[in-house]
Amino acid sequence: MARREIVLLGDPVLRREAEEVDRFDDDLKKLVRDMFDTMYHAEGIGLAGPQVGVSKRVLVVDLRRDEGVDERMALINPRITWFSDEIDKQPEGCLSMPGLEEVVQRPRAIEVDAVDPDGRPVAFEADELLARALQHEIDHLDGVLFSDRVSPLKRKMLMKKWKKLQAEEDN
Ligand code: NI
Repeated sequence: MARREIVLLGDPVLRREAEEVDRFDDDLKKLVRDMFDTMYHAEGIGLAGPQVGVSKRVLVVDLRRDEGVDERMALINPRITWFSDEIDKQPEGCLSMPGLEEVVQRPRAIEVDAVDPDGRPVAFEADELLARALQHEIDHLDGVLFSDRVSPLKRKMLMKKWKKLQAEEDN
């Protein structure tokens, strides 16, 4: 296992549409292991390939809500096949935009089709925090960030705060 560097807002890889995975080889398994390692170290609950500079449709999620309950999942080429009409509003952050948080509206439940790192198909329904985390990470695979899903005014405020945080970082 090895940690990879998390790329931050401003890196063009975060805006690219990630490529479908068609080889379920050792490189893919290593990428998945490294992504878990990187996510746990950063204390996040989800991470997408582009966030470690790999423009491939790979994501990892682990909500870690209950100690001892293994909720970790790695999804390849995930696709949302159904969204609930019911909408949830919850604050979101992103490891590629540390220090920023804003309430984002998203469907409360979804159905997902994907394959696991061995290429076996998986399909399931998710709701609440898991549905939110998956939608956030799948957005990353399409070059979309949570800041794109808030009002223009809130986005402007987020970008202002980001510039301020970056300036502080440079000092
Ligand atoms: Ni994110």
